[in-house]
Amino acid sequence: MCGIVGYIGTKKASPILINGLLRLEYRGYDSAGISTIENNSISIMKDKGRVKNLYNLSGIDDLEGTIGIAHTRWATHGKPSKENSHPHMDNSKTFSVVHNGIIENYNELKKFLIKEGYIFYSQTDTEIIPNLIHYYYSKDNKQDDLKLLRSIKNACSKLKGSFAIEVISKDYPDNMIVVRKDSPLVIGKGDNENYISSDIPAILSFTREFYLLEDLEFVILSRHDAKFYDKDLNSINKRIQTIEWNASSAEKDGFDDYMLKEIYEQPTAIRETIGAKLTEDSKCEFDELDFTKEYLQSINKIYLVACGTAMHAGLAGKNMIEHICKIPTEVDIASEFRYRDPIIDNKTLCVFISQSGETADTIAALKLSKEKGAKTLAISNVIGSSITREADFSIYTHAGPEIAVASTKAYTSQVVLLSILTIYFAEILKISEKEVKSLKKAIIELPSKIEKTLKCTEKIKKFGHRIYQEKDVFFLGRGVDETVAKESALKLKEISYIHAESYPAGELKHGPIALIENNITVISIMTDPKLVEKTVSNIQEVITRGAKTLVVTNQKIDDKMFDTVIHIPETNSFVSPILSVIPLQLLSYYISKEKGLDVDKPRNLAKSVTVE
Ligand code: M6R
Repeated sequence: MCGIVGYIGTKKASPILINGLLRLEYRGYDSAGISTIENNSISIMKDKGRVKNLYNLSGIDDLEGTIGIAHTRWATHGKPSKENSHPHMDNSKTFSVVHNGIIENYNELKKFLIKEGYIFYSQTDTEIIPNLIHYYYSKDNKQDDLKLLRSIKNACSKLKGSFAIEVISKDYPDNMIVVRKDSPLVIGKGDNENYISSDIPAILSFTREFYLLEDLEFVILSRHDAKFYDKDLNSINKRIQTIEWNASSAEKDGFDDYMLKEIYEQPTAIRETIGAKLTEDSKCEFDELDFTKEYLQSINKIYLVACGTAMHAGLAGKNMIEHICKIPTEVDIASEFRYRDPIIDNKTLCVFISQSGETADTIAALKLSKEKGAKTLAISNVIGSSITREADFSIYTHAGPEIAVASTKAYTSQVVLLSILTIYFAEILKISEKEVKSLKKAIIELPSKIEKTLKCTEKIKKFGHRIYQEKDVFFLGRGVDETVAKESALKLKEISYIHAESYPAGELKHGPIALIENNITVISIMTDPKLVEKTVSNIQEVITRGAKTLVVTNQKIDDKMFDTVIHIPETNSFVSPILSVIPLQLLSYYISKEKGLDVDKPRNLAKSVTVE
């Protein structure tokens, strides 16, 4: 997720903008840029790399303008580069725009604008915005104060997806217009000046008085004023709110830790990952892929290769691909795969899953697969990362930067992307139509079901309080639920340092049951209607031996049998890990907090494992 800063006042804008961007660095980014107005013309300074590099750009000190916009970019469309960095201008250099979010229909709008004679210089979705504004501006013959606002409103009415936008124009050197939809934007009120940002921390040192914008509220800012309009451009009143947060809690949007913030960001991460790729009634599309029926029919095996949590996402992917697409699929741990001489040829498709795209073992496994002639596909959260540069094809989760070492929103976004990939394959292969239909519906409903699932927090916190001093915890599940058991055990180990083991529930009596003793904690996941009774019987066996039990389920079970039951919304079994993992992410989080540990930076662990 990118960062936005803006300023309109009486001071030189550029140092304020750069200072604001520096305060957003914690979010992660790959490029930065600013734009100001001087002598009725727009200046832009931008480049790939760190914000502080902006100080070295020639001419930056000469920017005297007192109005400006600024941006840190986290690449979504097009690799990190100067051309793709924001701000972007329209062809006539009348408007300069920064944008957070994703314009899902940008291809369609780009084609339209190209037909109208517009030229594009970047690969971004954002560059269509200033040009679309120009398109409407040039068609508007009224010369009144609202002409710029009208053109922006008309442009926004064509945009599908999410956006927070700042616009400045050489024709209106004393105004800035901002608007948002599904992407945050706030306005900080100063003394004869206004500050704008996607995130409160960037401007918290300048003011504590904020206007918080709602979706499709437009604002015309001047030095002394902020005028608010609704989506139909009717004037509205906004209340100023005073923010008491300190700088550190502001960076986390008021959450105590990044991990908790990221857990709560999952509905957005998944909405953005679904993007325009999937709708209920049209065929699934990946602009980046051009697989044919002949090719998919020729595949002898798919390998899903990854490490840690990303490998657990692969396990959920295997279930779907094998069942729906009928292609044999194996999941491999990258550090094993690279040394085990896997059977690979030119009929093998190797898929590499990595949030960071920089994991050394995953990169090595990818190189090996290429050497052996496989087609390679990268799934990453970071555009331009090493695996995406190395692979034949790349597709992306749009979870935004994940800062906590323990992966949460990246995992659920990976499972979503794998489910969309499964549908893409099945539609090309023309198989499993009924299942594809039901899976599509389930994926689209996920964000709102995650919001419902997150309501279990208080119950989970209580259970966490009961078990935070334990030494061992067991996680059990069958089928897709076992993949969640694995991921949940890893999460608990990572951030609470409790020894946690996961087993397929049916394996219990083949050994692990010997470890079950009075008062031990056993957590189970039961979301597959075909398997729920079997898992209940397994849990019955541990209850008989004195275990405390927590169950996460979307099935009707006898709650009285268990100590705590977390009911989550029903969904298609293939994507149930996306919901069932959430209470268990929260459980690890609250146990770690009870133990007074550093949730975001657990001992001995790095966010990105770039060495073997
Ligand atoms: O960046 P990657 O997805 O390649 O990282 C893989 C693992 O290192 C990562 O998922 C790790 O297991 C997490 N810390 C789990 O929370």
